[in-house]
Amino acid sequence: MQEVALFLEQAALAEGLRDSVWLYPLVNAGHVLGIAVVVGGIIPMDLKILGLWPGLPLLPFWRALRATVAVGLVLAIVTGLLLFLARASDYLASPWFLIKMAVLLLSLINVAFVMVRHPLPEISSRPPSLELKVCALISLVGWCLVLLLGRLVGYF
Ligand code: HEM
Repeated sequence: MQEVALFLEQAALAEGLRDSVWLYPLVNAGHVLGIAVVVGGIIPMDLKILGLWPGLPLLPFWRALRATVAVGLVLAIVTGLLLFLARASDYLASPWFLIKMAVLLLSLINVAFVMVRHPLPEISSRPPSLELKVCALISLVGWCLVLLLGRLVGYF
């Protein structure tokens, strides 16, 4: 695994990221923007499913935020991979990074599960089921943890 990481670090793109004064901070800013859009969309959606804002219908939340969360996810994943390339072996040796990746994977599986099990017609036709509420709770905890772990990687 460490050999693959060292190979990735020596790739031209990784060297460009490390050596450029502007590229790394710009990619980092893109990562933070992606994170803000994902977490800023998912958290209100989870809170709505869990019963906040009872007077507002769920469907418009779901429709609007689903699209912004998808764009944010693509941005966070692409920029995250670029940041990873720059110092792949350090990140693979960091338990915080590995735990972040595991929690991120579980959170993405939770998103896929909700999309498959609770399609739009169901969301619009009845109040959120207990299963959907449990998924919203898992999502709330999962995305906050990914955020926290992402920040911890830079400190330990
Ligand atoms: C939506 C999913 C993600 C969230 C919420 C997230 C969260 C974070 C946070 C909060 C930071 C610290 C940013 C800063 O303070 O400058 C960070 C940095 C980072 N993330 Fe992510 N991340 C996500 C996806 C990914 C992915 C998919 C990868 C790579 C495969 C990745 C790799 C990195 C790397 C390498 C850093 C820099 C760590 C450092 O040296 O400080 N992230 N992430």
